[in-house]
Amino acid sequence: MKAIVVTDQAAGTAGMKLVERPEPRPAINDVVVQVHASGFTWDELTWPPTWTDRLDRDRTPSIPGHELAGVVTARGYGTTGLSVGQRVFGLTDWTRDGTLAEYVAVEARNLAPLPGDVDFTVGASLPMPGLTAWQGLFVHGRVRAGQSVLAHGAAGVVGSVVTQFAREVGAYVIGTGRAADRQAVLDLGANEFVDLENDALKDVGPVDLVFDVFGGDIVKRSAGLIRAGGTLVTIAGPTEARPADGLAIDFVVESDRAQLAEIVQRVRDGRLRTNIGTVSTLDEAVAAFNRTGRRKGKTIIRVRP
Ligand SMILES: NC(=O)c1ccc[n+]([C@@H]2O[C@H](COP(=O)([O-])OP(=O)(O)OC[C@H]3O[C@@H](n4cnc5c(N)ncnc54)[C@H](OP(=O)(O)O)[C@@H]3O)[C@@H](O)[C@H]2O)c1
Repeated sequence: MKAIVVTDQAAGTAGMKLVERPEPRPAINDVVVQVHASGFTWDELTWPPTWTDRLDRDRTPSIPGHELAGVVTARGYGTTGLSVGQRVFGLTDWTRDGTLAEYVAVEARNLAPLPGDVDFTVGASLPMPGLTAWQGLFVHGRVRAGQSVLAHGAAGVVGSVVTQFAREVGAYVIGTGRAADRQAVLDLGANEFVDLENDALKDVGPVDLVFDVFGGDIVKRSAGLIRAGGTLVTIAGPTEARPADGLAIDFVVESDRAQLAEIVQRVRDGRLRTNIGTVSTLDEAVAAFNRTGRRKGKTIIRVRP
């Protein structure tokens, strides 16, 4: 099968190569999915599990990409809940070969059925931002109607879903980002916008929940904006600086079939707009990930036309 592999961490996305790889076999409780559309997160090649397995052993050449929408073509021993021919979407394991390939082996529990009226490109754009926003707001942040939420990077892939979910539950949302994104963030439903490069973050607040996607100086300054009893959740990478221990809830998104069903239902009934940027073929994917200029929205690779 055709797949994109990486072998050189220092090379970043410029080191991606389109090669021939053996098709994966389904292990216990796996399915093999014929990938129709694949999602890649822009800084995935900085994540440790792209390069090493759970025992810290080199696992290159590794296939990046952890979101997919496609069709089940095989089931492993003992697999229940999904059938061959079924349309599915979901998030794959960080330490296994991913979805920038024609086929991928995934634990069935990490996938949900993709309704027939939802396009594969849309399906592949949902798992990472949808599950991350859901878990940060509702599971870890326990947001409720009437609370105020500071949503960082609100025009971005994750932040745009955070903004929409927080508004849907009746929270007051202050979105942040770059000046050029003000209108886009307000159009997503944010009540206010803070331009991080020109407005004073210290004038915000107090808020009940900060949803951080940056780490570093911004999350440290945001910690001071939280009302007593409030929460700070952050999804910034493990190497990013963050507030002193105990102040922030760091989490890494996990796949969840029931949450995927909730998320895709919101797209079907118009409550959620997904943030898709460039859509490219697998043959053109390396160029798509290495384009110059501002990247807006999630890059989706349409593996099958
Ligand atoms: N822990 C987890 O489970 C998890 C899950 C999902 C994602 N993540 C991580 O979360 C991060 C965000 O992912 P994403 O896909 O949402 O990225 P994204 O689409 O690039 O979103 C970030 C947004 O913030 C803006 N921004 C960046 N730096 C800024 C600054 N200094 N001032 C104002 N605005 C700024 C970006 O604008 P520009 O495009 O102009 O820079 C963009 O609109 C990534 O590091 C990703 O790996 C973690």
